[in-house]
Amino acid sequence: MSDLAGKHIVLGLTGGIACYKAAELCRAFVKEGATVQVVMTDAAEQFITRVTMQALSGLPVYFSQWDAREPNTMPHINLSREADAIVIAPCSADFMARLVHGRADDLLSLMCLARPIDRVPLLLAPAMNREMWAAPATQRNMAQLEADGAIILGVGSGFQACGETGDGRMLEPHELLEDIVAFLQPKPLAGKRVVVTAGPTFEAMDPVRGVTNHSSGKMGFAIARAAREAGAQVVLVAGPVHQRTPRGVRRIDVQSAQQMLDATLPEAAQADVFVATAAVADWRPASVSTSKIKKAEGGGPPALAFAENPDILRTVAQGERARSGRLFCVGFAAESDDLAANAQAKRARKGVPLLVGNIGPATFGQDDNELLLVDAQGTRPLPRASKRSLARTLVAEIARLLPSPA
Ligand code: C5P
Repeated sequence: MSDLAGKHIVLGLTGGIACYKAAELCRAFVKEGATVQVVMTDAAEQFITRVTMQALSGLPVYFSQWDAREPNTMPHINLSREADAIVIAPCSADFMARLVHGRADDLLSLMCLARPIDRVPLLLAPAMNREMWAAPATQRNMAQLEADGAIILGVGSGFQACGETGDGRMLEPHELLEDIVAFLQPKPLAGKRVVVTAGPTFEAMDPVRGVTNHSSGKMGFAIARAAREAGAQVVLVAGPVHQRTPRGVRRIDVQSAQQMLDATLPEAAQADVFVATAAVADWRPASVSTSKIKKAEGGGPPALAFAENPDILRTVAQGERARSGRLFCVGFAAESDDLAANAQAKRARKGVPLLVGNIGPATFGQDDNELLLVDAQGTRPLPRASKRSLARTLVAEIARLLPSPA
């Protein structure tokens, strides 16, 4: 999937040790299909060479406002007019101060000042020592830059090159990429709250064993990410999975179906959309032994009795918020065959406006999938694609089906 296909990004580097991460970021942009024009300040050149950035971007680096390569000698105008976004990574404390004051005595700050403000977004990835980051001047500058329309991508926390530990590290390249890709997506869910369940549940029988399934959580995590990209505030209630939390998504980890229900209900009570992707265990061991069930000599296997789990989707879909049309519920059906008929029947049984069918064995753990959307109008197949891409299509469809505000 090329998340930045057709996009042209101007990547500005200012002076900071995090310049080494800008090399990786540049590569990630190119890998996602963007064209990247690198612009460097003199201070940035103390940390990384033009050669490196040219090799990674495939384009000669710009560094001077007096560059004779441009026939009109105006690189600050030409570079900013062609950009879909200007990303400054790393953005030093000094460069933030320069932007606040509208300084224009080097190519990068001159170009930022010259950018068409309503057409070319300016995204800043600050990088500095924790005291510099916390300093009142920096915080004041950041607030002013936000008020002036710049997007501050935030900072990471942890061990810093200076040997201190705290806030102010530049975000990792993969985090910046995810945030920038999200920023550039359409926002049909702006202002909406979305709750997603994902992954399997784990139903304990004793402190070390339990009943679970092979759901990887990939589809649900992709939906949470796509909903965040679409501008929603997203809560992801996740069973035990090994997936990275999508940026900007609030994650609640649970184990059992009952815990998933308990975590979901208060969130769904304030949400506009609920997407139940989790592969919830239908049954749990009727009783949980407090100590490990031992193998008795010659005793044979223990008898297991099961109790039925709550149906999270049905509980939420039957709640007052969903029935009054304020919460749009989406169910999933993992079938082994006869997808259309099974999904139609499940949509009616669960009482949801939209049900997404897929073939269970073909999706668990995979990076791609095929979906069948079933709503009151009929069915719509979404052909095989990455879960990321399917999630975006599904989120766009949900946004289209949401009741418009009265
Ligand atoms: O009934 P079945 O498990 O096939 O239904 C699948 C749909 O119902 C999925 O959306 C799943 O997340 C949801 N579900 C649930 N709670 C359960 C069982 C299923 O929310 N106990």
